[in-house]
Amino acid sequence: MNKIDIIAGARPNFMKIGPIVHAINKHNSKNPAKKVEFRLIHTGQHYDKKMSDDFFEQLNIPQPDINLGVGSGTAAWQTGNIMMKYEEAIKEWKPDLCLVVGDVTSTMACSITAKKEWVHVAHVEGGIRSGDEKMPEEINRMVTDSITDYFFTTSEVANTNLKKLGHPEEKIFFVGNTMIDSLLGNLERLQKPLLYSENNLQEKEYLVMTLHRPSNVDAMQSLSNLLQNVNDHVDERKVVFPMHPRTKKMYDQLGMNYKNLLITGPMSYLEFIFLIKNSLGVITDSGGITEETTVLGVPCMTLRNSTERPETVTIGTNEIVGTDPKNIIPYLEKLISGEWKKGTIPKLWDGNTAHRIVEIISQL
Ligand code: UD1
Repeated sequence: MNKIDIIAGARPNFMKIGPIVHAINKHNSKNPAKKVEFRLIHTGQHYDKKMSDDFFEQLNIPQPDINLGVGSGTAAWQTGNIMMKYEEAIKEWKPDLCLVVGDVTSTMACSITAKKEWVHVAHVEGGIRSGDEKMPEEINRMVTDSITDYFFTTSEVANTNLKKLGHPEEKIFFVGNTMIDSLLGNLERLQKPLLYSENNLQEKEYLVMTLHRPSNVDAMQSLSNLLQNVNDHVDERKVVFPMHPRTKKMYDQLGMNYKNLLITGPMSYLEFIFLIKNSLGVITDSGGITEETTVLGVPCMTLRNSTERPETVTIGTNEIVGTDPKNIIPYLEKLISGEWKKGTIPKLWDGNTAHRIVEIISQL
């Protein structure tokens, strides 16, 4: 395979594709006769500077060759528009392989389009499942994996899931986690956010919270109960809360103030990782953050009923708290009293995953 489209659409994709782009460039400079040509395609699902451009800049990812500019809309609207626009882009260049990452709307939309145009599909982070079909990401994973030709997996559980689904072993490549490549590759470059000094935050004396899933933020009463419980059970510590645009909309409607919550906008990558690395613990409904906290050894509470990343719980620092706002209280008490479990790092989450992927692709 030597003509590849690399697809990125939403914030959690950018730290997954960055290391792959860098590994291809490295491969090409070492093997000028066996170059892997690629186009970087941004679907435009996320478009704010703080949700997109800042990540490209900080992770030294080149500007996309094509931006499909899809913008916001319902999942069906986004899917349809991405498919129509990506279909045109495929016809122009005729790639051999479409490489998608993660589980966002762009991942599914581009993989379907590619497959229908007889372009092979590679799915980085294939095979993971939460079992919760109410999550749009779970549908995206199921659909994408059902038409994927080459799976690049992050865990043994993902390998087992794929084999159970009948995918042949020779299509499954257990390579590790490219999001962790970005994390480990940038630890020396982290940036202290302004709010750290402005609020006199001290190492391991504050928490970080992120929320964006409809199950946590779309119902006003439960969002308000959750924020109140967090505010009241952190023993006067500060909780830095960088808000996703959807959460901000609901929060503004609440019209409340919580004295221990430090509300801010979406953060840049290098600042956000600085914050979680130095925090006492993290409260989140994201999946990717549970991987980052596991590698950093930072306690993490997941405000969901399931996870597609079970290794973050079985061997990492993550605990599944559920979505009932009162569940968080005993977990916060455990954290504050210093009784959180210690974790270890999952196999192959070592910073070299993208190189493994590129080596395999160049030989396909
Ligand atoms: C998407 C992913 C989710 C991921 C999350 C991280 C899907 C199904 N979900 O959810 O897995 O964890 O990204 O952020 O793809 N908006 C802006 N500016 C932007 C982008 C979005 O203001 O740059 C607003 C819009 O009002 C939009 C809303 O945020 O309607 C939600 O964006 P959307 O792309 O639909 O999904 P996310 O909730 O961000």
